[in-house]
Amino acid sequence: MQRFVARSGLLEGGRRRAQSLLRSQQQQQKAAREKEIANDVLPKMPPFDYSPAPYTGPSVDEILAKRRQFLSPSMFYLYKKPVNIVEGRMQYLFDEGGRRYLDGFGGIATVNCGHCHPDVVDAIVSQVKRIQHPTILYLNHAVADFAEALASKMPGNLKVAFFTNSGTEANELAMMMARLYTGCQDMISVRNSYHGNAAGTMGATGQRSWKFSVVQSGIHHVLNPDPYRGPFGSDGEKYAKDVQDIVDFATTGHVAGFISEAIQGVGGIVEAAPGYLPAVYKNVRKAGGLCIADEVQSGFARTGNMWGFEAHGVVPDIVTMAKGIGNGMPLGAVVTTPEIAEVLTRRSYFNTFGGNPVSTAAGLAVLKVIDKDNLRENASTVGAYMKDRLTALKEKYEIIGDVRGRGLMIGVELVSDRQKKTPANAETLHVLDQMKEMGVLIGKGGFYGNVFRITPPLCFTKEDADFLVDVMDYNMSKL
Ligand SMILES: Cc1ncc(COP(=O)(O)O)c(C=O)c1O
Repeated sequence: MQRFVARSGLLEGGRRRAQSLLRSQQQQQKAAREKEIANDVLPKMPPFDYSPAPYTGPSVDEILAKRRQFLSPSMFYLYKKPVNIVEGRMQYLFDEGGRRYLDGFGGIATVNCGHCHPDVVDAIVSQVKRIQHPTILYLNHAVADFAEALASKMPGNLKVAFFTNSGTEANELAMMMARLYTGCQDMISVRNSYHGNAAGTMGATGQRSWKFSVVQSGIHHVLNPDPYRGPFGSDGEKYAKDVQDIVDFATTGHVAGFISEAIQGVGGIVEAAPGYLPAVYKNVRKAGGLCIADEVQSGFARTGNMWGFEAHGVVPDIVTMAKGIGNGMPLGAVVTTPEIAEVLTRRSYFNTFGGNPVSTAAGLAVLKVIDKDNLRENASTVGAYMKDRLTALKEKYEIIGDVRGRGLMIGVELVSDRQKKTPANAETLHVLDQMKEMGVLIGKGGFYGNVFRITPPLCFTKEDADFLVDVMDYNMSKL
């Protein structure tokens, strides 16, 4: 016991010394940066012709105090000193002092068209002025128009939509439909995935940090086909064998279905190894199951295609959507075939707000903007350009273990030892914070919390990408 106390005292002393060293390093960096600003050598944000309205709301400290007192203590924020975002225009955000930030996170892969895109705003405002909530029990054209437009963007016979308010709800519903359709309970999900936080979706999620200790039954988690950290590298078919093993050894041989993200978002931008999805879909269907594509993050042009699964040459039986679908409006959807959709007629099934005219008017506007503003093409070209530039940074900095992703869904994983792939968490947090200080907001994720998630609005330009990478480069050089 005494030894433990002495040891923990030593550890405490060591931690204090490390903290004070870090503080003095930060002060030195700040002073050096101020000098560089004065000498005009720091990367510059591309110009943008917009001035936010003067802010007259409460201060950062007042908001923080209210959050602490009146909001759930589970609500966390990014950054040591959180940002207070009061306005947004396209790929830029403004804080209470009118300072502009480049948004490299897009409201967590959600604001695909850009903040306050005028077409989306107009659609919402003109709908909200007419009728906000007639209830789905009466007819209104908005939900029908959006369902028709969405069906036109889907492959195969994926033509029928049920609207929800979130990705969690969409995935809950999709898994229930698979269970009803097949009469089986066993679902297969992938380790390191994120599918939501209600009972079923928390079960499907494959990371302990997002799971509470509550009943989560009927799910088997298979190996993650992760080309960087997985045991089989990029050999998709080898990982697919694990799915067949689960069917053979953990179920009756029949399953309800398989749910996966084409690119794991929360899991740290991990794209399924090539060849994995076609092989798994084949085996799951052989076992009587349905294949569910969770497109909550990778959908709506983010990857350069309309859907993340397109790059893998598969057509799912059910597709779930949220986030980018409404450019920030609370909207989700389950799209499937008329035959599978029929299962919900066995009982009454209803969602008060799902498919409300305001959210679906926004959804329709989003689909039009994706075409009008060429967002698929832009995500593809600007994304490839940025990924190339980040890959070049990997040559420069040993700490970058991997650069990956597709379109404007890019991950940069930091490791303190490339061989052992030791997660470099402290450095990830530090660079994230320093980038914010220089006006660039990006996200963080991955099981170990050591992956930068870059998922900006899809109107991002090459100049924006240059600024983001230059700011990352600058801060990596100071590590
Ligand atoms: C892939 C994926 N599926 C589902 C969800 C859950 O969506 P929501 O937060 O809208 O419930 C998320 C949220 O991050 C997600 O990334």
